[in-house]
Amino acid sequence: MSHASPAPFRVPAARCLSGRIRVPGDKSISHRALMLSALAVGESRVEGLLEGEDVLATAAALRAMGAGIERMAEGCWTINGVGVSGLLQPAGALDMGNSGTSTRLLMGLVASHPITATFTGDASLSARPMERVITPLSRMGAEVTASPGGRLPLMLRGLCPAVPIEYELPVASAQVKSAVLLAGLNTPGVTRVIEPVPTRDHSERMLAGFGAEVLVEETSQGRVISITGEAELRPQQITVPGDPSSAAFWMVAATVVPGSDVVIENVGLNPTRAGLLTALRMMGADIAEVDTRTVGGEPVADLRVRHAALSGITVPHDLAPSMIDEYPVLFVAAAFAAGRTVARGADELRVKESDRIAAMRAALEANGVAVTEHEDGLSIDGTGGEAIPGGGTVQTHLDHRIAMSMTVAGLHARRPVTIDDVSPARTSYPNFFDQLSYLSGEAA
Ligand code: S3P
Repeated sequence: MSHASPAPFRVPAARCLSGRIRVPGDKSISHRALMLSALAVGESRVEGLLEGEDVLATAAALRAMGAGIERMAEGCWTINGVGVSGLLQPAGALDMGNSGTSTRLLMGLVASHPITATFTGDASLSARPMERVITPLSRMGAEVTASPGGRLPLMLRGLCPAVPIEYELPVASAQVKSAVLLAGLNTPGVTRVIEPVPTRDHSERMLAGFGAEVLVEETSQGRVISITGEAELRPQQITVPGDPSSAAFWMVAATVVPGSDVVIENVGLNPTRAGLLTALRMMGADIAEVDTRTVGGEPVADLRVRHAALSGITVPHDLAPSMIDEYPVLFVAAAFAAGRTVARGADELRVKESDRIAAMRAALEANGVAVTEHEDGLSIDGTGGEAIPGGGTVQTHLDHRIAMSMTVAGLHARRPVTIDDVSPARTSYPNFFDQLSYLSGEAA
């Protein structure tokens, strides 16, 4: 999946945002729904699947390894699985595009199958560290030949049967946790992951939903997740809730653009993902949860967001894992708050689709916002609700969340904010700009 030609965008300032929208399906849950369905014998059906480029990369890779995957209607897909242990040798390299989640989770799946796969990706993905999954998967018996620095392109030869391990996560990463658990699915015995800091738990929830034997224990060491291998997964009907990481853009946009009143429908509110909501409320945001319910085993609500004055805060470090993807847009909220916001404790931001600390510092500074960079975050002095100066150009570095976060910043700017390339939004939020036009009253 090579990167298409860049699409620059000059953000039009919004008078106010109003209306109801439904954000696309959760990216993390969509990847996992395809992967586990591909390992169940028989037909699973997924509704609300995110049809972003990252998830399509997962679908293509699973097809290349033997799963039957078909799109029936928008967001509605059927998957005919091959069974745990049934993945086939792919004929060519697996192109992961921009997607770290596809890469790391699929490496886990391949690690305990008797197949060899080559993983490739775009410039952003090829700069990201893979050592964090190579280390535990090698301990399970996989052989990995990576590019210098433990990066893509890499070739992984799985071992079957693999060796069960107990692995304590050295970084708070749901991708590493999931890679080990997925490798454990086809490994005899019990594979165990210890996470000192809890991260998103979609893998554990969904593995249990598909019938795998998964045990989660809270201990003095942290959360211990054990999976009993050589599992048999039963096909499922899955409804994917809306992505809180996509809803995040509208939560901030409606808060900072005066006069706004927006309802975001069907937002997943799993506590391991809801940190931004907590942080924004601490800053003074007006966000009401309406019609709280359960969708696909995950808590969900509609969120009504009205414009509100924000005050700077020190973001509690323990919120970081539950809002790790939302820091770029939180930095934008901070740019409109009264006083200083200190958002630190998130050094993982350095190794996302871009170095999000450096990228957001440069993007905000170019648009007249006062920012101090720290190794593990940013401090930002906000306008107190006034428009930011704007007038600068944002380098997105192939990072969807930089593109969309700085678009939100540009909605309340004195001079236009220009984004060098908004095409990366297609990885996670293909209709972001259509929904923006609708909410700003510009829809045809
Ligand atoms: C994800 C985990 C997080 C997150 C990413 C999706 C997942 O990454 O940033 O967007 O689906 O497991 P890390 O595991 O690197 O923290």
